[in-house]
Amino acid sequence: MIIAIDGPAAAGKGTLARRIADAYGFHHLDTGLTYRATAKALLDAGLPLDDETVAEAMARKVDLAGLDRAILSQHEIGEAASKIAVMPAVRRALVEAQRSFAGKEPGTVLDGRDIGTVVCPNAPVKFYVTASAEVRAKRRYDEIVEAGGRADYAAIFEDVKRRDERDMGRTDSPLRPSEDAYLLDTSEMSIEAAFQTAKSIIDTAL
Ligand code: C5P
Repeated sequence: MIIAIDGPAAAGKGTLARRIADAYGFHHLDTGLTYRATAKALLDAGLPLDDETVAEAMARKVDLAGLDRAILSQHEIGEAASKIAVMPAVRRALVEAQRSFAGKEPGTVLDGRDIGTVVCPNAPVKFYVTASAEVRAKRRYDEIVEAGGRADYAAIFEDVKRRDERDMGRTDSPLRPSEDAYLLDTSEMSIEAAFQTAKSIIDTAL
């Protein structure tokens, strides 16, 4: 069983994916972390972000077992990740690793931008999780404030829109809903309600 979850930044797909993986005892891969880990390795090594051959070599070294969102969550890493994510050779390397993860038993949940369209086009259940840019920026803002940090809503909003443009506008594997994906708009829906909807769809596919 493979469950594909795609959507823009901060739409709630990560939380939904973890919730589904826990409920069904499936393995979960946040594919954004593979792009982030590649970007961080380049930044740490002082290597350029615009050399496709260098970035591809780094992508091939990413260890899926060692991905940790706590280390990879910084804003600069996310920005760098979305820059190297436009490179076809980087995507090919990471998609290979993601596909081999997807085959794990008894089932997997992968979340990202191109899971239903490119990584696992044959996944029996696909969700496209979205929410308005305002709601997504507000969620990011609240997360930072709740964690005791200082946040600037206007800057976060601009950042969300910039990331959307980059992810939806790239030529290779742009972010878009697969034709057979269930749309979950979480603008006015709690993640719990989204989970309940997703669960009833998964249960009929099992
Ligand atoms: O989801 P997250 O913000 O961690 O992803 C970081 C960046 O990695 C995204 O902005 C996107 O450009 C890229 N990405 C991608 N394809 C995926 C997952 C993430 O291009 N499947």
